[in-house]
Amino acid sequence: MINPFPYLSNGYQWLQNPYHFLDQKLKTDGLTFRKHLPILGNVVLTGEPALIQKIITSGEFGKGEGVGALKSILGSHSLIMKDGKEHLKRRIIVAPNFKGKAIAEYDEATIQYTEKIFYELDRHKPFSIYQIIQKISLRIIVVAIFGNKEQEELQYIESLVEKFLQSFKSPLVLFFKPFQVNLGKYSPWGKALQNRENLCSYILQEIGLNEIKKCNSILSHLLGAKEDGIPLQKEEIIGEVFALLLFGHDTGAATMSWVIAHIYQNPKIVEKLQVYVKQEYNAGSELTYLEAYIKESMRLCPVVVHLTRKALKDTTITHYKIRKGDTVLPCTYLAHHNPAVFTEPYQFFPERFMDGKTYEYSYFPFGLGVRTCIGKPFVMRQMKLILSVLMKHFYLQFAPNYIPKPKRHFVLILPQQGCLMVKK
Ligand code: HEM
Repeated sequence: MINPFPYLSNGYQWLQNPYHFLDQKLKTDGLTFRKHLPILGNVVLTGEPALIQKIITSGEFGKGEGVGALKSILGSHSLIMKDGKEHLKRRIIVAPNFKGKAIAEYDEATIQYTEKIFYELDRHKPFSIYQIIQKISLRIIVVAIFGNKEQEELQYIESLVEKFLQSFKSPLVLFFKPFQVNLGKYSPWGKALQNRENLCSYILQEIGLNEIKKCNSILSHLLGAKEDGIPLQKEEIIGEVFALLLFGHDTGAATMSWVIAHIYQNPKIVEKLQVYVKQEYNAGSELTYLEAYIKESMRLCPVVVHLTRKALKDTTITHYKIRKGDTVLPCTYLAHHNPAVFTEPYQFFPERFMDGKTYEYSYFPFGLGVRTCIGKPFVMRQMKLILSVLMKHFYLQFAPNYIPKPKRHFVLILPQQGCLMVKK
């Protein structure tokens, strides 16, 4: 009889703290192995640069299926649901909203809102960095999508988005099809669909207003965009807006929790960055030194632990046979801890990123190839600005007895409690 205990304990570890699970596997099995994982099933994971390059560039693998519930939320028309040529056509429309001049417009709002939120915090009362940064990044993505509005309206949109996202965050609702049944407004799925509906009504109302009077917003840009000469359908626009709200603030907040955890673990690092920001920061400064600290934090603790790809035909990954439809996971965490690429891979050493090195196929917290995160320039700029405000104006430290141990929070990995800090 097969002993179920190793499987159960492996599965439990993967769900609780995948970093720990992957550290163990790296020691015993190296960078590439096959494993049965909860929810994902039988998969091959790899952190080997050459294999990751093959998965991303050979054309033998397509997008992963993602969590089932996402399809019901986003519909099948948004960028992340598309593959091949259709995907590329949509990227050309959505991605420019998150780079270059377009994103510099949010600098002032990011700085002012960060200052406001941190000034308002009670001194000496523990708070979760994750929750605080979530508020900031939600405000910025809402302003980016819908344009700048009165405080009250922005708060109203944020409450719709929060309710909507919250209702899809139950692991049962997110991962298990049987729970995705509408049994009325008191059932989790019924409630989730109602929250989706409420947000949808707001977006439709905004589309109506935009048709009358254009404003400077992503929504307005999507309304004016054409694919194959045809304007996007309303359902397509709603799908894109949902996707941006879903991916546009949580990942950044989770990443910032780790950045803060890594920086504040050592008062000397904090002092060094405070001096740097006070001397170097001026409008338009690229803050490349801070960038190296953020990049190194994302190397050590990537909040997205792996990418997911599905084989489009029978193939192999080293000696593992892969059948059409099988899932493979190019694993950020394994690749980022490859000792052949990163000397002393468990040390926080931002200097690794100070000479412009990019570590192709070994470092990819924002993904790789044609599906690389479209929000990367936007969120990197946002994180640098938030960090510079903290270094310039605030004195923070870990809450008493707090240790930032990794813990899964739905699909992302965060320091437990989202990194508990106090303002001095
Ligand atoms: C630090 C924060 C972030 C991290 C770590 C992150 C990570 C990722 C990763 C790993 C992927 C690739 C997934 C794959 O290949 O399967 C991805 C894709 C994506 N991200 Fe992000 N992301 C972040 C912020 C954002 C933001 C702020 C936005 C939007 C404003 C965004 C929107 C997207 C979209 C739309 C895709 C799908 C791209 C495509 O399929 O072509 N992300 N992200």
